[in-house]
Amino acid sequence: MATAEQLKALVRSYTEGDNDRFLAVAMQIAAHAARTGKEKLAQELQALVDGAKKHRPLEVRPRSVPFVRTGSDLAGLVTATFPKTRLADMVLAPVTRSRLDRVVLEYREADRLLAHGLPPRRKLLLIGPPGSGKTMTASALAGELSLPLLAVQLHALISRFMGETAAKLHLVFDAMSRTRGVYLFDEFDAIGGRRVTANDVGEIRRILNSFLQFLERDGSDSIIIAATNLVETLDDALFRRFDDVVRYGLPSEELAKSLIRNHLAAFDIAELAWESLLPATHGLSHAEITRACADAAKDAVLAELSTITTESLAASLAQRLHRE
Ligand SMILES: Nc1ncnc2c1ncn2[C@@H]1O[C@H](COP(=O)(O)OP(=O)(O)O)[C@@H](O)[C@H]1O
Ligand SMILES: [Mg+2]
Repeated sequence: MATAEQLKALVRSYTEGDNDRFLAVAMQIAAHAARTGKEKLAQELQALVDGAKKHRPLEVRPRSVPFVRTGSDLAGLVTATFPKTRLADMVLAPVTRSRLDRVVLEYREADRLLAHGLPPRRKLLLIGPPGSGKTMTASALAGELSLPLLAVQLHALISRFMGETAAKLHLVFDAMSRTRGVYLFDEFDAIGGRRVTANDVGEIRRILNSFLQFLERDGSDSIIIAATNLVETLDDALFRRFDDVVRYGLPSEELAKSLIRNHLAAFDIAELAWESLLPATHGLSHAEITRACADAAKDAVLAELSTITTESLAASLAQRLHRE
């Protein structure tokens, strides 16, 4: 049998989503079994590990993302993180949820799809009001697929590199083939729609055009996400270049309830009067409800209570609504 340390290491690597380490520990357990005369177990484990390695389509090595090191061409333009967020952490309308599940499924099964000449969905446009989970979605997709999240700082691209933005964008798109990841162009309205001032409109237009050309040409294995708050002002040409457009909205009462339950799971909320609370969430985004829950939780902790009262949560929600 495996030692206690090996078992702990196995579970730890699973929790941390470290696939390589997980398999390495499994191999150590197999080796240990072989040494202690359990040949059959050793062979079975070895076969399981070999199988697991084979069935990891699109495996990535997210440990190194060299191009964002200080001093590299893309330093200051792209930030790399390794999110642990999962789609299950999100509260989404069923249609939105199934769109995202579809992206994950197609990406995981990319090899099978490509064998039939069917490229998986990789280029996504996320549209919806602030605080509805667009940025979080990029993290969750990265977390779900064990990919690094590479956030492209569009504002920096525009303000710091006027005149050479197309060249910089080219570098970003080049990186997509080299380093597989989820590439997020957040606040895409900066180039995809914003009412731009007269003196930078030409430049912005050029950036958008280069972006669209690069997007169209891209044949990498990376996922490319553009997220924007603005729908009306988006350029029509945009919609055609993406494989999918995912729309977000303010949460329904049912979703608001799920959000509150998720965020206050550590407290006693059995007494909450939902019928009076839920109307108080109208007009609030996911982000605002999340913050109201955090405020109510802080109130409870500071008052050394383990119960969240309807009054306290209602007050926090009302504060969020009347902030502007
Ligand atoms: N759909 C959601 N499900 C759960 N939490 C959410 C959701 N949308 C937003 N949040 C919470 O609000 C925060 C900000 O949301 P964010 O993804 O930045 O919104 P957006 O990018 O659409 O403006 C998130 O980090 C999360 O805590
Ligand atoms: Mg955002």
